[in-house]
Amino acid sequence: MNNYLIENLPEYFKIYKKSIKNPKKFWDKIADENFVWYQRWSKVVDYDMHEAKIKWFKGAKLNITKNCIDRHLAERGHKNAIIWEPNNPDEPTQYITYNELYDRVGKMANVLRSQGIEKGDRVCIYLPMIPELAICMLACARIGAIHSVIFAGFSASAVASRVNDCEAKLLICSDGSYRGSKVLNLKSIIDEALEKTPSVQHVLVVKRTHNEVNMKEGRDLWLQPLYDAAPIENVPQIMDAEDPLFILYTSGSTGKPKGMLHTCAGYMVYSAYTFKNVFNYKENDIYWCTADIGWITGHSYILYGPLANGATTVIFEGVPTYPQPDRFWEVIEKHKVTQFYTAPTAIRSLAKESSDWVEKHDLSSLRVIGSVGEPINDEAWHWYNDHVGKKKCPIVDTWWQTETGGIMIAPVPFVTPTKPTYATLPLPGIQPVLMDEKRNEITGNQTDGSLCIRFPWPGIARTIWGDHERYKQTYFSAFPGKYFTGDGALRDEVGYYRITGRMDDVIIVSGHNLGTAPIEDSIGLHPAVAESAIVGYPHEVKGNALYGYIILKDTGESRDRENLKKEINLLISDTIGPIAKLDKIQFVQALPKTRSGKIMRRILRKIAEGDFSNFGDTSTLLNPEVIEDIKNNRIG
Ligand code: WTA
Repeated sequence: MNNYLIENLPEYFKIYKKSIKNPKKFWDKIADENFVWYQRWSKVVDYDMHEAKIKWFKGAKLNITKNCIDRHLAERGHKNAIIWEPNNPDEPTQYITYNELYDRVGKMANVLRSQGIEKGDRVCIYLPMIPELAICMLACARIGAIHSVIFAGFSASAVASRVNDCEAKLLICSDGSYRGSKVLNLKSIIDEALEKTPSVQHVLVVKRTHNEVNMKEGRDLWLQPLYDAAPIENVPQIMDAEDPLFILYTSGSTGKPKGMLHTCAGYMVYSAYTFKNVFNYKENDIYWCTADIGWITGHSYILYGPLANGATTVIFEGVPTYPQPDRFWEVIEKHKVTQFYTAPTAIRSLAKESSDWVEKHDLSSLRVIGSVGEPINDEAWHWYNDHVGKKKCPIVDTWWQTETGGIMIAPVPFVTPTKPTYATLPLPGIQPVLMDEKRNEITGNQTDGSLCIRFPWPGIARTIWGDHERYKQTYFSAFPGKYFTGDGALRDEVGYYRITGRMDDVIIVSGHNLGTAPIEDSIGLHPAVAESAIVGYPHEVKGNALYGYIILKDTGESRDRENLKKEINLLISDTIGPIAKLDKIQFVQALPKTRSGKIMRRILRKIAEGDFSNFGDTSTLLNPEVIEDIKNNRIG
């Protein structure tokens, strides 16, 4: 597995060039040298970017769990595969070696088989961040069942729509979950969800919080006795390269979530290759990604990517602020974490706390720190660099999507020089292109446009479960022959990419294209501002005007609001130009966010427009209660 680490910049350019010139040869060699296969492929890639039909490693046979577990046993059997850090620091940490992981996955796989689960069946998993979550996913992969993890924070109706969409036969949940000082009763959410899900035959319940739950006769079973009785030995199902591995739902422009389908071989190769290079993974590292496994980041970079490399991956059950706002830093110190991967939203919220919380911990084990999920603003980037990385750890700002399966644009640490707020350069095999409004490719540097990808890569989702037409329409129709990411990007003078945000966040004011991200960055430079979100609303003369929702830091609360508004607009004028000035500014306590920390701009746009009629599905919001307050204080 040491065959693919890029060592220096000239080598990166050389490899990149080769990978573009001959992607087949490039991926053929990586797949050949770094994984175990029951049978080789007859063709590296087969694709039609117009019909959105993509196949990698056709004819190959494999099982991803053999690559993530079995093959490591000889050399790494006693090495920790998973370090599980509980919500409450007084509870003991679990250290799960590769040997133990083998046993636990084998037993769980046998439990699934005993429940009649077969290759191709869908299993929904609704669990908190406990080892069983990882073990159940791997057990599904072992027997060829398709897992669909539903983030254990979604409401009953969000669960029901996902379970029904994929017609899951089995659901695995827990009695409850711990989040900071709170105990949530997950089973009651499942009970409500399953009133409307005819496909589910059984529910396996993991005991975690020991709160009282209802067990429905004939449907619900406690996992533990089944698990205890199950044998360890489990022969992995032999899978075709293009057999489904998992479905993961992501929100789209319409209310109905899209079940992105990832398949076995390509996803494995891509998540493993990118993990190694983007995190500069070395044998004795302790790697920690704070995402929830319920999101793609957790799938690819807590579970499959690290385990395929034989790494030690930390799984953290808790929240960054419990019992105190130094929990992240405490865990890094405790386990001597070498790579730390988190989200800008977490960075910003921790940056609001006193920096003493960080300084009191020894973070000297860190080598690489990463960011994912949204553009990282300048202020957050510098705070992360100064206080966490101590200006010694490269920040890997990783751009990618649920649909891409793995990281697409990111610095290779110690190889690609970083630049604040820039995801920098594409990884080998990835061909980003920028397109203009007339659907022409923009060549040259110092430009911006719609971000598309020219050639398929092994990690790309193959379809939307049950709706290939929607897949084709969403990703392959705007720019025929190319994959459209939905994001805008700019390319600087040396070819570095900066993601400017979703294309639907671009606002055209008096004929000028304005990205919300740079305006928000500029507002973030004001010392009194904690966070902001900009949306457009219709304006008689300019077409659109800008409406800013701004959260103040505690220190800003006492300031005169009218003065603050002037200062903020001056700042925008100075950094971007008068055209980007805000017509309306509303100071708010919080912004409506999805559970992955993304601002729900759709709702903010409606409020700015004064249209309170239909906010669509708000059940996936982290904090739906903030909407009322924002509505009531809208600037008319
Ligand atoms: C955004 C998360 C800027 C982007 C892995 C993308 C980013 C969407 C970055 C996908 C980044 C993700 N810089 N924007 N480093 N990473 N995004 O599917 O808009 O939850 O299209 O996947 O997040 O979100 P998703």
